[in-house]
Amino acid sequence: METFNFICTPEITFGEGSLGSLGEKIKNLKGTRVFISMDKALSDIKSQVKKLLDKEKLSYVIYDEILSEPTTDMGNYAGRLAKEEKCDIVCGIGGGSSLDIAKAVSVLITNDGRIEDYQGLGKVPNPGVPKIMVPTTAGTGSEVTFTAVFIRSKEKTKGGINSVYLYPQCAILDPDLTVSLPQGPTAFTGMDAFCHAIESYISKNSNFLTEAVSEKAMELLWENLPVVYNNPKSIKARGNMLYASFLAGLGLVNAGVTAVHSLSYPLGGLFGIGHGVGNALLLPYVLEAEIPEIDVKISRLSKKLLNKKSDTLSFIHELKNLEKGLKIPEKLSELNIPEDVIEQIAEGAMKIAVPLANNPKTLTKQDIIKIYNKAY
Ligand SMILES: [Fe+2]
Repeated sequence: METFNFICTPEITFGEGSLGSLGEKIKNLKGTRVFISMDKALSDIKSQVKKLLDKEKLSYVIYDEILSEPTTDMGNYAGRLAKEEKCDIVCGIGGGSSLDIAKAVSVLITNDGRIEDYQGLGKVPNPGVPKIMVPTTAGTGSEVTFTAVFIRSKEKTKGGINSVYLYPQCAILDPDLTVSLPQGPTAFTGMDAFCHAIESYISKNSNFLTEAVSEKAMELLWENLPVVYNNPKSIKARGNMLYASFLAGLGLVNAGVTAVHSLSYPLGGLFGIGHGVGNALLLPYVLEAEIPEIDVKISRLSKKLLNKKSDTLSFIHELKNLEKGLKIPEKLSELNIPEDVIEQIAEGAMKIAVPLANNPKTLTKQDIIKIYNKAY
């Protein structure tokens, strides 16, 4: 019989207007002074949050300088600020970057090191302060994961803090907050969620529970991503996307992502390519490189998503069509990446070892170079 372990954020509140419960959640977790990290672009949500916290007479510090994927410098600055301000709870509101900063700040408050000291697996010595996650994209799934990813400012490489002390205590999933997300980020973050779902689905570490949540996530994403892309105000579809990205996050945290994330990381670190863009672009090429290893599962998945029996190659063809409809770039050459760096980025990908170890097929450096060349 299959045995498994499954981890999930202890409290999830889902629904339109659920942001209204933020004050209550902070009080339940015994927070007295909240450090809030949020995206710069979210001024409307910022006013809502201030009103909510003022009403509850909660004190807070807002760090809202987050524009792009966070660097270690940004995270360390936020950590120092939260410590100086004596915050005892953190809240991340926004895309994965704001959530990751909040998770890192939580442990920087209670530990003396810097982010660089904790990048890797299990390197954080002490638990952090409580964390509440409010995603406004669907999404990175950061509201359920034990990872916070930062670009090392000096080396221009990406690395995650992976620690059980980064698990959030509470996630508020309010579809209203995702409605104003522009078309591009809606597509890229939605495809990142799809990558979490499909990669965890085919991961060597998947089990029947993770497969069930990953499959449900893909069904919802496949159906709703084109809807929210073309009709951003559809609250029902936005809700389905947010729920799906949460489920995909559960797949990710319990079964792990695979080679797509390993191959995408160096593109972010070296060339600033957005996480979702890199993943979405590479996904079909990685799947094409491992058809025999994924055929059984993808054929099963095809039946669910396409309502017909189809082989893996046909599924990849449909996936490419979906991405075309979302205006995802199809080739690395479209992203101004020089062709002569492929060997270097392949070396970078080999260093992102954990997702590669989860991959259904063992990929050598030569295999990875082949995938990049095909994607170029
Ligand atoms: Fe991701």
